[in-house]
Amino acid sequence: MMQTTPVRLMLLSALVALAAACTEKPEADKATTSTKTDTKAAAPADGKKGGVDRASLGMFKALPADMASEANPSTPEKVALGHQLYFDKRLSKNHDISCNSCHNVAAFGVDGEPTSPGHKGQRGGRNSPTVMNAALHISQFWDGRAKDVEEQAKGPVLNPIEMAMPDAKRVEETLASMPEYVTAFKKVFPKADKPTFDNMALAIAAYERKLVTPSPFDAYLKGDDKALNAAQQQGLQDFIATGCTTCHSGVAIGGGMYQKLGLVSPWPNQKDQGRFEVTKNDADKMMFKVPSLRNIAKTGPYFHDGATKDLGEAVKLMAKHQLGKELDDAKTKPIVAFLESLTGTAPADLTKTPKLPASTDKTPKPDPS
Ligand code: HEC
Ligand code: HEC
Repeated sequence: MMQTTPVRLMLLSALVALAAACTEKPEADKATTSTKTDTKAAAPADGKKGGVDRASLGMFKALPADMASEANPSTPEKVALGHQLYFDKRLSKNHDISCNSCHNVAAFGVDGEPTSPGHKGQRGGRNSPTVMNAALHISQFWDGRAKDVEEQAKGPVLNPIEMAMPDAKRVEETLASMPEYVTAFKKVFPKADKPTFDNMALAIAAYERKLVTPSPFDAYLKGDDKALNAAQQQGLQDFIATGCTTCHSGVAIGGGMYQKLGLVSPWPNQKDQGRFEVTKNDADKMMFKVPSLRNIAKTGPYFHDGATKDLGEAVKLMAKHQLGKELDDAKTKPIVAFLESLTGTAPADLTKTPKLPASTDKTPKPDPS
């Protein structure tokens, strides 16, 4: 077991300050790597409990009960409608793919594939990230090209290699063909006389905003020292001391900034240049949104390219490419144990398959072409 020596404490507080400097301004288009260091006094040892200096935990935050949005106010009816739409394969051209196909909410919001099969089995170039807690991120997608879950939810339905609907009109016709949906949309969106594509996205997003997964780490942050075992507490210290928190901090332990993948040593796969693909700005080459590490033990394969499905390997790759450090198995193990404490539980009623409205003869037929 590592001792908390004064030197370690000083190193810790320097890293804390560095991480704080990074998280202070989570601006979507400020794709910068903060190197600002601030020398604050070492945290007093009496803040230390259960082996971890609690003063070093200010860079994290326990999950809120939900991820409410003023712009898209939540009601139980809206969430229930979004839940149905999220599971409805009839929102895909061939009636064979729903949001849940690639982001299975009964399996931590992922499909376990390096890249996901969409319409006609076609695969895109990127790994499906989890939808759990996603509404907390500064933006959506690996490259941050959608500003929030409301905007994001419109993408996959019309994406030719995902759900492949030809246009918003077909989606609206499909929804309007089922009286149960018509009634539900009327109730949730009284200003619209029939289901609209935009309101579909709002309902799905309202559902996603309920997908929070409180974990043992949240209980620990709230003061329950026993919520993490000794190995996990050691791993938490190592996670901070190694420098992971420079990028992975805040309420989602990530999701708060963009960073270069391969900051210290180039990432082997340079095919996908991340934010550069969207902005065409040279400074954005290999810049990706720092992903949340919540539920990370359950959401492999890892990285935008699904480079590995082994979490220990992912940790070693991060230490090497982002921090220029080699971690051996003994150093990696506690960090993995800590990451396992980020596995949480989503609201049980929202991860079940809901009952869907019955099709009618007006419902467009599946189209495999
Ligand atoms: C065929 C698989 C597939 C389907 C179907 C699909 N997605 Fe995704 N989803 C992905 C992939 C791949 C990405 C990452 C793409 C990227 O970053 O460019 C993604 C990204 C996301 C994100 C961003 C998460 C983050 O951390 O940035 C959210 C939220 C999301 N999808 C929700 C949905 C919703 C809602 C639906 C249904 C309307 C849906 N997805 C349908 C594969 C899919
Ligand atoms: C300089 C910023 C930075 C540092 C430091 C950093 N990471 Fe990351 N991390 C990222 C970025 C950016 C990604 C997304 C990479 C991609 O696009 O595939 C990532 C991805 C990950 C992933 C995969 C997430 C997923 O959903 O697939 C894990 C696991 C991870 N980091 C753990 C760590 C650990 C553990 C450390 C410390 C040893 C660490 N990171 C240090 C920026 C950083």
